[in-house]
Amino acid sequence: MSVLETRELSKDFAGFRAVDRVSIALDDGKVHALVGPNGAGKTTLFHMLTGFVRPSAGRIVAFGADVTGLAPFRISRMGIARSFQITSLFDRRTVLENVVLALHVADPVNLRFWESERAVARYRDRASAILEEVGLAAVAARTAGSLPYGQKRALELALALALEPKVLLLDEPTSGMSLEDVQRTIALVRQVRAGRTVLLVEHNMGVVAELAERVIVMQQGRVIADGPYEAVRRDPAVITAYLGQTDA
Ligand SMILES: Nc1ncnc2c1ncn2[C@@H]1O[C@H](COP(=O)(O)OP(=O)(O)O)[C@@H](O)[C@H]1O
Ligand SMILES: [Mg+2]
Repeated sequence: MSVLETRELSKDFAGFRAVDRVSIALDDGKVHALVGPNGAGKTTLFHMLTGFVRPSAGRIVAFGADVTGLAPFRISRMGIARSFQITSLFDRRTVLENVVLALHVADPVNLRFWESERAVARYRDRASAILEEVGLAAVAARTAGSLPYGQKRALELALALALEPKVLLLDEPTSGMSLEDVQRTIALVRQVRAGRTVLLVEHNMGVVAELAERVIVMQQGRVIADGPYEAVRRDPAVITAYLGQTDA
């Protein structure tokens, strides 16, 4: 049984097929990279896996159960978490409070409403452990808004980890980062992958080469290659798909 798979999954936008009968099954415990030229359908597939875009056809199966069309919070509560965008951080709250809030939301027996002091007391230890894991323990008391870009991205990852995911989905985790932050993120993904299945959409082929054990290549909505990095990078169909692409 695959932790997460798609069966003939498709998405049409006003007659335009952005994702076309994609069938993939993630390998338990592996790091997968989803790559392909701009407009290939990667983000649309990613959004379907996380419940943010409703498929037009096909199925999504998680841990053996059909989850097609489930709301994002139901999917995340099954242990399939995505890293959120920086826009979802509470800039004026501290780094610690951001994680506390994520733990609070993820807790199935959570208190009915957000009371900062009680919630902080309840979740402080777990939040601190997560911040330790992503290397943000030293900035726990700073406001999220005051962090440099790379640390904001690390905080996003911390919020996803608050869900204790078995599957971690990351959309372009290194986009817009300095070389130094890219290296830090690679190290971070290596660390948080332990015991998890990871799928990352990634433009940076250096990152893919360093992290991914399996690479899935999309072009024009379809999967055109799927296998170990070394095999996929030599695949003629993949080389053709990337010709003329400067940002892939
Ligand atoms: N909400 C939308 N409405 C209409 N077209 C969309 C929408 N989202 C994506 N598309 C189109 O679907 C195609 C795939 O987009 P996307 O999944 O973002 O590709 P990628 O992430 O691989 O660059 C593109 O042609 C894009 O313009
Ligand atoms: Mg995209």
